[in-house]
Amino acid sequence: MKLPKKSVAILFGGVSAEHDVSIVSAASIAKSIDTERFTPVYVAIDKLGRWHLGPGAFTFLKEKSEQGVGRVILSTDPEKKGFINLESGDLIPVDVIFPVLHGPRGEDGTIQGFLEIAGIPYVGCGTMASAIAMDKDMTKRILAQRGIPVVKGTCVTRWMWDNSRQDAISELMQSIELPMFIKPATMGSSIGITRAASLDEVIRGIEEGLRFSQKVVIEKSIENPLEIEVAVLGNHEPRASLPGQIISCNEFYDFEAKYMGGSTELIIPAKLSRSLREEIQFRAVEAFDVIGGAGMARIDFLASRDTCYLNEINTIPGFTSISMYPKLWEASGIPYSSLITILIELALKRHVEQEALTKTIELDKGLGV
Ligand SMILES: Nc1ncnc2c1ncn2[C@@H]1O[C@H](COP(=O)(O)OP(=O)(O)O)[C@@H](O)[C@H]1O
Ligand SMILES: [Mg+2]
Repeated sequence: MKLPKKSVAILFGGVSAEHDVSIVSAASIAKSIDTERFTPVYVAIDKLGRWHLGPGAFTFLKEKSEQGVGRVILSTDPEKKGFINLESGDLIPVDVIFPVLHGPRGEDGTIQGFLEIAGIPYVGCGTMASAIAMDKDMTKRILAQRGIPVVKGTCVTRWMWDNSRQDAISELMQSIELPMFIKPATMGSSIGITRAASLDEVIRGIEEGLRFSQKVVIEKSIENPLEIEVAVLGNHEPRASLPGQIISCNEFYDFEAKYMGGSTELIIPAKLSRSLREEIQFRAVEAFDVIGGAGMARIDFLASRDTCYLNEINTIPGFTSISMYPKLWEASGIPYSSLITILIELALKRHVEQEALTKTIELDKGLGV
């Protein structure tokens, strides 16, 4: 007997600087999602944060044509799960949501919290894991506590910078050697990141980073590192893919090297010794577990000659058919289309477990208030 098709809303676009990357990821999913099993519905979030549903969603974001889309909001009513058309009031029910949104308000736990309130299963990490992974400072603290090697670093907040700048600078210069990397704590795609080799560059780097985040993370530069990425998939028994390597065409893997063509190379699988490969795979799964990951994450490492540092965790990695995350799974035996199916199934399983929790307690008597 054929199971009824599940309707899957692909949520894409979004208000972050990674809006355009998200469109490409969603367009790739649209081409490959198994339509025998799923009925995809497309929901485009424009740069102002308005949601538009319909087959015209891609055209809407690219060409601003309103044909084939209607403005919608996500319903948080437990008896009306799905999207509500703002003009007609009609409900468009969905069974599961696949957020393909990168960066703040997409990957940082905020949208995941909203989807929790809506009570609809969704692909990928929950609110806590998403929020931890989005904050590079918090990620470092949690991983370090578990004994996972991270690059030595510190952070400066906007408030410290405005109120006790001299103290912040002298503490920083005493604790971390030049050159340093300075990064907005809650951004992605290398936006706002600089490498600083002098005090002047450190000051400019902090100013730049604080344009994007209330806090910057400052760390020692690992010179000429091997940049290795590994894909993790699963809920309770996550698996790591074969690792891949990035060889950036620029001094570091900056925004231009990521998205503007260039000659950045992805080597899949990376040519690593067996022991380094196993260490990276082990650490990736350990990190995924320690933050409470679910579904997927791409875990990135910087390897120096003697230590392999875990650099960051991306809970909604680039998902175009030529992005690292799907490519790593392809090299590890899972084709792109099956990967989408597995992620949707993991979302449904996780939701069933969440729903099974006891949410209220029955009291024999009242509370006496
Ligand atoms: N401590 C470091 N030493 C050397 N290179 C670094 C360091 N931190 C970041 N980089 C370089 O900057 C890139 C972007 O930094 P990353 O922490 O991955 O931020 P994002 O979330 O924006 O990708 C890395 O891929 C790497 O090339
Ligand atoms: Mg990165």
